[in-house]
Amino acid sequence: MTASEEATPLDLAWLRAFRRKLRAWYDANARVLPWRGTRDPYAIWLSEIMLQQTQVETVKAYFQRFLAELPTVQALAGVDEQKVLRLWEGLGYYRRARQLHKAAKQIVEEHDGQFPRDPLAVERLPGIGRYTAGAILSIAFDERRPILEANTVRLFSRLIGYAGDTMSSAGRKTLWSAAEALLPKRDAGRFNQSLMELGSLVCRPKAPLCETCPVLGLCAAQRQGLQAEIPRPKARAKIEDVRDAAVIVRRGPRVLLIQWPEGGRWAGLWDFPRFAIHGVSVSEIRRELIEGVQQLTGTTISAGEHCKTLRHGVTRFRITLECFEGEYLTGASRNGKMPKAIAARKWVRPEELPGYPLSSTGRKIAGLVITGGKTEQSKSP
Ligand code: ADE
Repeated sequence: MTASEEATPLDLAWLRAFRRKLRAWYDANARVLPWRGTRDPYAIWLSEIMLQQTQVETVKAYFQRFLAELPTVQALAGVDEQKVLRLWEGLGYYRRARQLHKAAKQIVEEHDGQFPRDPLAVERLPGIGRYTAGAILSIAFDERRPILEANTVRLFSRLIGYAGDTMSSAGRKTLWSAAEALLPKRDAGRFNQSLMELGSLVCRPKAPLCETCPVLGLCAAQRQGLQAEIPRPKARAKIEDVRDAAVIVRRGPRVLLIQWPEGGRWAGLWDFPRFAIHGVSVSEIRRELIEGVQQLTGTTISAGEHCKTLRHGVTRFRITLECFEGEYLTGASRNGKMPKAIAARKWVRPEELPGYPLSSTGRKIAGLVITGGKTEQSKSP
């Protein structure tokens, strides 16, 4: 064992060895990612917001498409929120897109279109907290700012052997202090990225690759054989089964779309009318479809065929979405009162559907409408 490996985590000899080994490892192992070749704060900001709740592999294509369409903060500030949501469609957590858009407007109005360098101004932007501010300021401007996100929470906990609750205020304090102590004076952006990369590629949540870790001898958890126990696993939320129905309400060549209102997870997005159902028999479900569409949209329909079952998961919910056909009878006139549960409703031609930002399941149903993929019976031989 070398002298540095006997050192206590975060003391001077330990820090020197850690930084040297991490830098050498990153030089040889960094992935080429679309946001890594730039110092443009707008592009880095966009990547960090997308990466907050989405995997690197998924973010790549979304990031490139978004930047190609809206290459500057001015371009983003100048478009309609619908355009932003359309570009975000499929990434989930749509609040991120709406806040990004609001922040772009704020940058244009209050900062002359220049991304601010003052950390307080950065943290006042919607959707940007201490982590994202640190990532942008360090990567774009090489400011010495620490970061703490999912990958580095795990990495730091193991390095210093922190076995407490990483979400508690004591845990946060300890881990932010570690992030601060680890940072070198220069090249903080590259160093922060190398920390995230090590957390992501080597110091993985399950079965970390300790045998190939460049800082193996410096890790308190590994020395104590506690890498599986640290960080302390979170209590898993109980999975709940939910059954929803979506209805393709037809009126001549058009179908009915609704827009979700402020406050919910899908705020601003469009969808086919959907709601929870509980019935078992065909007649029970038929009644629920008629009542559900009436309540949600103010439209009276006759319920038609079942056409598709879509299964998907959202947070702790396992959702079975039963899709049905429906035919417009009366109601939902242009000047009729808008029901509270929606922001808007619209009769749309199939060829117009690609222009609307839809929920992921809404997009699948739109595919059925466009291709005329009607009922399950019609698909079977
Ligand atoms: N996760 C969050 N930010 C990241 C980045 N810049 N590179 C890789 N993974 C990340």
